[in-house]
Amino acid sequence: MKRILVVDGGSLHAQEVARQVRKLGVYSEIVPASAAEPVLKGRKPSGVILVGMVSARLEQVVHGLSVPVKSLDDGVVPDRVLESFLSEACGDEREWNMDSFLDQALERIRAQVGSGRAICGLSGGVDSAVAAVLVHRAIGDQLTCIYVDHGLMRAGESEQVVAAFQGRFGIPLIHVQAQERFLNKLAGVVDPEQKRKIIGIEFIRVFEEEAAKLGAVDFLVQGTVYPDVLESGLGPGTLVKSHHNVGGLPEDLGLELVEPLATLFKDEVRELGEKLGLPREMVWRHPFPGPGLGVRVLGEVTREKLDILRQADAIVVEELRRSGWYDKIWQAAVVLTNVRAVGVQRGARTYDYVVGLRFVNSTDGMTAQWARVPHELLETISERLLEEVAGVGRVVYDISPKPPATIEWE
Ligand code: XMP
Repeated sequence: MKRILVVDGGSLHAQEVARQVRKLGVYSEIVPASAAEPVLKGRKPSGVILVGMVSARLEQVVHGLSVPVKSLDDGVVPDRVLESFLSEACGDEREWNMDSFLDQALERIRAQVGSGRAICGLSGGVDSAVAAVLVHRAIGDQLTCIYVDHGLMRAGESEQVVAAFQGRFGIPLIHVQAQERFLNKLAGVVDPEQKRKIIGIEFIRVFEEEAAKLGAVDFLVQGTVYPDVLESGLGPGTLVKSHHNVGGLPEDLGLELVEPLATLFKDEVRELGEKLGLPREMVWRHPFPGPGLGVRVLGEVTREKLDILRQADAIVVEELRRSGWYDKIWQAAVVLTNVRAVGVQRGARTYDYVVGLRFVNSTDGMTAQWARVPHELLETISERLLEEVAGVGRVVYDISPKPPATIEWE
């Protein structure tokens, strides 16, 4: 298959350019300029795009390959400019699309796993779900999924995972009900970092215990995506063993990693998810932190507070969907603060929790702007929260940009 190498000389746009090439039907990979030479010498691409600043020496190496080269100063160019470069580099061979990816991925997974057994930890997020369904399509019931239910998910999410995997796809799934266990560990803990640590460690323990019950297992499937690989700075072809996006599983499980999405951008993972028949709701879900509602209940996590937050969150998501705003914003976090405020309801004094709404726009989570949603939507949400959720006495909208404020409050 034709392949374009995007050499990134410190541009902000390398990923955009690589995606643009793929959208035009040609597979692309990104390599940082500092690591480009061995990659170029190892496997000759069909063409090279240089973005940002690259050294004269590297330019020489690139031109020495005698393949078409395009230099882009600021990265983003109109499609037609790339079109003519791609015609020169690849002719009519535009074979990159989700169907061709799917065929190749199935073959690769079968070749890697053979007759071995694999496990996959589901997080409720899109990446692990797509990876699991893809691997199941390739090797069937040689795959077992483990879903650790830490009790920190949104309303209905665990049920949806179980219904999709066991019900629709018939994938062997171990649903570990560990809610009590996590709550006990979190009792009395108020420090955010400590909470994250406890949730992470406990997640690994539960996962390991369940994996051990399965007997001999050879492979661990992970939903690592291309931006994770790029972030590691190691460039294409070097899968990062230390990057774990399923609750942070450790390397010493002694399992070989299967990372079938490691060359895909997030939007491609979603496209693949739809192609594989995952529910739209799951595929287009907003990002959700691994520690779940554990970091959205500020301070100590209790069953009572989780129940309040879950109800509040469900109303917010429902109103966002109803108004069409769910798909227009990047993420909507509902936060149960540990502050209470005085109010009056039905003639009596109340002293209830303050709920924070954190709706943001972002492209990668690294920076974010608060979302300018209509006041009428905020009004509907606020009225419903105050009316329907016992324990909520006040609603505030977070207007802090990131930086300096992070998206999550903890
Ligand atoms: P912050 O709060 O750092 O969040 O601005 C940026 C993005 O990352 C998500 N997030 C997490 N995701 N495990 C995750 O998998 C975590 O511990 C975690 N903390 C934050 C957050 O929801 C936002 O999308």
